[in-house]
Amino acid sequence: MLILEKLIIDGGTRLCGEVKLQGAKNSVLPILAASILCDDECYIDNCPRLSDCNVSMRIIRHLGKSAYRDGGSVIIGNEEITKNDIPEDMMREMRSSITFLGAIIAKMGEAKISLPGGCELGPRPIDIHISALKQMGVDISENHGLIECKVRDKLRGAMIALPYPSVGATENIILAAVLAKGTTIISNAAKEPEIVDLTIFLRSCGAKIIGAGESTVIICGVESLSGAYHKVIPDRIEAISYMSAIAITGGTGEVIGVLPEHIMAVIPIFEESGCKLQSTDSGLSITAPERLGAVKYIRTMPYPAFPTDAQAIIMALMAQSMGTSVFVETVFSGRYKHIAELQRMGANIKAEDRVAVVSGVERLSGASVSATDLRGGAALVIAALGADGRSEISNIHYIDRGYENIEGKLKKLGACIARVNS
Ligand code: EPZ
Repeated sequence: MLILEKLIIDGGTRLCGEVKLQGAKNSVLPILAASILCDDECYIDNCPRLSDCNVSMRIIRHLGKSAYRDGGSVIIGNEEITKNDIPEDMMREMRSSITFLGAIIAKMGEAKISLPGGCELGPRPIDIHISALKQMGVDISENHGLIECKVRDKLRGAMIALPYPSVGATENIILAAVLAKGTTIISNAAKEPEIVDLTIFLRSCGAKIIGAGESTVIICGVESLSGAYHKVIPDRIEAISYMSAIAITGGTGEVIGVLPEHIMAVIPIFEESGCKLQSTDSGLSITAPERLGAVKYIRTMPYPAFPTDAQAIIMALMAQSMGTSVFVETVFSGRYKHIAELQRMGANIKAEDRVAVVSGVERLSGASVSATDLRGGAALVIAALGADGRSEISNIHYIDRGYENIEGKLKKLGACIARVNS
């Protein structure tokens, strides 16, 4: 039986203290997909306890490998995979299951998955994934929402120019290319740190990859991959989320484990709003002013620019700041669903197409709101922490996809927050 939970938050308490970051969700998901390519056991350390990770482990078990958690690590067994499909319910549960496609084809020569479907961020096409795999020799047919892939003999290396630096497509191509015949060159590749982390894992398994983190990535196919021990990088979006929670309450704290170089585009935003940031031996400290100043202009772009995943989170901050901020969301067409919920808390936001104008108010007010997606849900938590009075946030399963123990970490910072069954 699905137990519906919600978060109850009484806003207004200044958050102070330390928060330790989880491993990066968007790094561990492609690394778990990559593990099905390996002939030996893989030991993935710093793997966050997230529902998305559980779905990936269920997919891995469905395909035929063992996958189990040992404390903060996940171990993937050395069994051969025996299946080439991902059941529809698993595809629907997590869109990023598409990242298994390249790896399944690489191992099995064929794959059957259902279209990942649209989700909370608007349409989620996979045309870039499909056209790249076709260039690598995959015959692909799509009908009735099912994608069937089959290689004529073996995946072959190709020169692939991405029309957009898609994170998922870059990852899918890398996973298809590491065991392909010949060399694959990806131009206009995504440069996110999570892609670099994926390639560090793959190289420790014997893959031949250069250029990850740059716009041209070169992969020379090898015969097989061993297993490896890998420690996942810290979650940069979680870092921004807790920095925002501290900032909106006028608090002070330290985010342990964040790599400042991963959030270079967001640090100036916090500083422009009046926060003082300082590198420490174990991460980054942040001290916020009584009231945040508005940041004039925020435009989301691929890494290393301001990340789309931080858009809703920073918008929550700006909703309770002095002045007006203009947001332009250039990455996803449907990533403003959190605005209606923020407006229920008194936010003054006008959105049209990709642009949102936020006029900061003195104080948001607690309300009953509902998470619309992962980062939109985080934005509501942040707004509730700064707001006057009590908020109830439902649909928090979205939040649990990307934040391990969010109420425990916030309680440790002094927040008045509880998770209850609704
Ligand atoms: C990854 O999603 C992340 N998810 C997202 O994080 C993140 O927002 C996004 O990259 C951008 O940084 C994971 O890593 C699991 P894209 P992905 O392919 O791979 C269009 C979170 O909150 N596109 O870079 O799906 C697409 O519609 C999640 O942690 C095509 O048109 O992102 C979008 O407009 C949300 N055709 C843009 O490219 C394609 O074939 C960027 O998408 C693929 C993508």
